[in-house]
Amino acid sequence: MLRAATAAICMGRRIRASLMLVTPGCTHRPVDPARATAGNWPRSAAQFRAWHPGACAIVSASAFPYVIAVIPSKIGKYEIVRELGRGATSAVFEAVDPFTGRRVAIKWVLPEALRDRDHGKRYRKLFITEASLAGKLSHPHIATIYDAVAEDDGSYIVMEYVDGGTLERYARVDNLLPIPQVLEIVFKCCKALDYAAKHGVIHRDIKPANILLTKDNQIKITDFGAALTDSAQTTQVSGIGSPAYMSPQQVKEVTLNHQTDIYSLGVVLFQLLTGRLPFQANNNYSLIYHVINTEPPAPSRYRPDVPAELDAIVARAMHKTTAARYPTWEEFAFDLANVFGNLASRAEVIPDSEKFNTLRQLEFFGPFSDVELWEVLRITHWHRFQKDTVLIREGEVGTSFFVLAHGEVKVTKQGRLLNVLRAGACFGEMAHLTKRQFVRNASVAALSQITVIEIKSERLQQASENCRHQFNGAFLAMLVDRLALANTRLSQLLAERNLVTS
Ligand SMILES: Nc1ncnc2c1ncn2[C@@H]1O[C@H](COP(=O)(O)OP(=O)(O)O)[C@@H](O)[C@H]1O
Ligand SMILES: [Mg+2]
Repeated sequence: MLRAATAAICMGRRIRASLMLVTPGCTHRPVDPARATAGNWPRSAAQFRAWHPGACAIVSASAFPYVIAVIPSKIGKYEIVRELGRGATSAVFEAVDPFTGRRVAIKWVLPEALRDRDHGKRYRKLFITEASLAGKLSHPHIATIYDAVAEDDGSYIVMEYVDGGTLERYARVDNLLPIPQVLEIVFKCCKALDYAAKHGVIHRDIKPANILLTKDNQIKITDFGAALTDSAQTTQVSGIGSPAYMSPQQVKEVTLNHQTDIYSLGVVLFQLLTGRLPFQANNNYSLIYHVINTEPPAPSRYRPDVPAELDAIVARAMHKTTAARYPTWEEFAFDLANVFGNLASRAEVIPDSEKFNTLRQLEFFGPFSDVELWEVLRITHWHRFQKDTVLIREGEVGTSFFVLAHGEVKVTKQGRLLNVLRAGACFGEMAHLTKRQFVRNASVAALSQITVIEIKSERLQQASENCRHQFNGAFLAMLVDRLALANTRLSQLLAERNLVTS
């Protein structure tokens, strides 16, 4: 929309209309010299102010005498920091909630878009669809929508601020990510979209520009404006999406299910591997023809180190018929994790996809939801240790506890064997459960090569209530088992003594 405003500045009189609509209740802070283009713009800040009373213009020294761009200093109660990006119908700003100090992203739809004679109805529906998801989807890999406001002088959506730009950056041939990292990202997208699908939401506009990155390499899916939701009160808009990523079913406008997103994510996977789109076309008609009729090439044609199994995954995700495409997100994710496992078996770092799948299989984490497991993943440290490594020493002060993911460990006290623990067992938890400083009363050492998950007590204390609740449940179940075992042993011991003494 700001592009529209900027263009309007070039056109002289029309700008007044668009800026006047933007102006109520807010001043304007023009920035971003990079957007300067020559044209019939106001020639000075004074001229700009004369044209737009109440607006404030900054004229870039380098681009003088042209006014550069205009952004509001406030939207509702939120103080605008900078523009982050823009899509077809909106501008997205970084902003601060002055009451909580929380940094947010605000997607702002200008009133002109909503009132547009040709497309206004469609834009209103996009806004309502996205706004209707406020508070509904809560997943670590989906940008959370906090609030939505519809007002005459501007409608906007307040959401989680994501600080690392979009995946578009890595969809270019000169800036490709290593294959394991691509698999990791797409795996997380599968899990997030599976969660959305299970909540009745099909995204319909999956593409690199709608997948955000955090600074620590996590992903957040955003822009659910085009989504199909099972709770939608209004009829769904058709004919939206980005043709290069649209499934054959979407371009043919037949009934869609979650497999349309599987197709689009297949295109994203292709693009992240090769830096190009599977179908090259000069216009949308020819593109749509290819989407419906042409087999996509194998990614290894453009990147020879793509393994054959990965070519097969892309082909299955992008299959034209839903019958031959991945039927579920789980299967897509499972295949990605397998290729990943093969590629990463030599690497020291344990990838998130492997960690997630490991956690899912451990009995200790059985009752945890996927969302809670991703949180566990963030608060844990994973280690691979050789046989005989000592993890816990008697007499030392402990601040963390462990869950064994692979292998076996022995628990000893003063050199005497107390127990052998296998995958899924938890140990060292007394350090967490007793609130005071805890001195370990037994030692634990690896009996084979092991993978162990370390959870620092202080990290767990800062985790969400749900996550802590699940841990408490797991500890309780474990302590009950141990108590039962201790009782059995005690009664056996007493029985033996009675036999001996009687
Ligand atoms: N939560 C966010 N945090 C940071 N940047 C964002 C966020 N949401 C969107 N953006 C940026 O704004 C751009 C447009 O946002 P998007 O929601 O995709 O709008 P549109 O519906 O107009 O495509 C994105 O490509 C991204 O660069
Ligand atoms: Mg978008």
